[in-house]
Amino acid sequence: MYPQIFTAAKGVDQAFLIILGFAVFILVAVTVTMLYFLWRYHYTRNPQPTEIKGSVTLEILWTVLPLLIVLGLFWTGWTSFKAMRTIPEGAMTVGVEGRMWSWRFTYANGKTSKELVIPVDTPIKLALTTRDVIHSFYVPAMRVKWDLVPGMDTQAWIQSDTVGDYDIFCAEYCGLKHADMITILRVVDKDEFDSWLNGKGEPAEEELGMSLLEEFGCFDCHSMDLSSESAPSLLDLGNREETVVLPDGKEKKIRPDEAYIRQSVRDPGAALVKGWDNDMPPYGDELSDAQLGVMAAYLLKGGQGKDKGAALADELGCLGCHTTDGTDDVGPTFLGLYGSERKGKTADGKPYELEADDGYIRRAITDPGANVPKGFDDEMPAFNDLDAASLDQLVGYIKSLGKKDAE
Ligand code: CUA
Repeated sequence: MYPQIFTAAKGVDQAFLIILGFAVFILVAVTVTMLYFLWRYHYTRNPQPTEIKGSVTLEILWTVLPLLIVLGLFWTGWTSFKAMRTIPEGAMTVGVEGRMWSWRFTYANGKTSKELVIPVDTPIKLALTTRDVIHSFYVPAMRVKWDLVPGMDTQAWIQSDTVGDYDIFCAEYCGLKHADMITILRVVDKDEFDSWLNGKGEPAEEELGMSLLEEFGCFDCHSMDLSSESAPSLLDLGNREETVVLPDGKEKKIRPDEAYIRQSVRDPGAALVKGWDNDMPPYGDELSDAQLGVMAAYLLKGGQGKDKGAALADELGCLGCHTTDGTDDVGPTFLGLYGSERKGKTADGKPYELEADDGYIRRAITDPGANVPKGFDDEMPAFNDLDAASLDQLVGYIKSLGKKDAE
């Protein structure tokens, strides 16, 4: 059997073994008795049919014995069920949200994660909710399987006595990508859990890149969105192609890389983006090579919003249905979505034709039924509980994946 890490659920394994044991015993007992009777009452051994009268003792025996067995089996099942359904006082609560087709876990301090991370030897109360259809939260290593039902708050609890990574599945068929609805249960020791829960994790480097750009006043002229009023936008530099003008007037197509960014900061006139004047001041020793490296890495990764937006899109499960490579899946691809012409039907069935601008994308996230694009079903759950910053990040991320007409 699967390893068992949930002490309170050990009774479940025991109940299973006891029931299996009785089932095997009864199978063997009935078969052996049957074979014995076949042999014993064969006509060569028993030419005259035996007349058998009723036996009160036997009648009582075969009524009472099975009753006791069945009650015993019920008892083992009931006690193990009760242990799993009695949530200990003071258990740490973690919110579990299921949706087509991913999971999201929310902790008391507001931290969210797409994996369930828990400290070892600590009772955890799971508050289960679903955004759309019925799912089922299933941890085989804990023998825990509990349904998430729309409009109903269900609960379960878990506790692990072993550190390690375990599977989490959805055990209720919930549509096209039901099989993709898997994630990891990470059981870590308590110190590691505390630092994970309160730690910021990787964003440190991202924040450093951002704060350097702010510190050196880059944003006085450059933007990190698609606007470029007084200088070229720095959004998604790593995926762009630019035409630059060299000092001798020759034009050249380049893909901005770290060397180009370094050069543009140290000596902006050496290769100017076409259409712009050489009015950026060069930066010398006041900016170290190491700082420049952090800034370049930050810009090449996509800049503001992109990393967070991409992480959010992943965490919220957007990427379960929307690709970023130009192929439509359950939902339209994000690549080139921004700024494209969208056709479809509104909630009351009227056709619409709109440009996918900020407002359109926002609406598509918070109220997907309002504009259902042609060729797709109205089946995306509404993400109407996102805060403004998260929504901005998602829109920024989709923007960073390019405009179709810009190709
Ligand atoms: Cu969710 Cu199957």
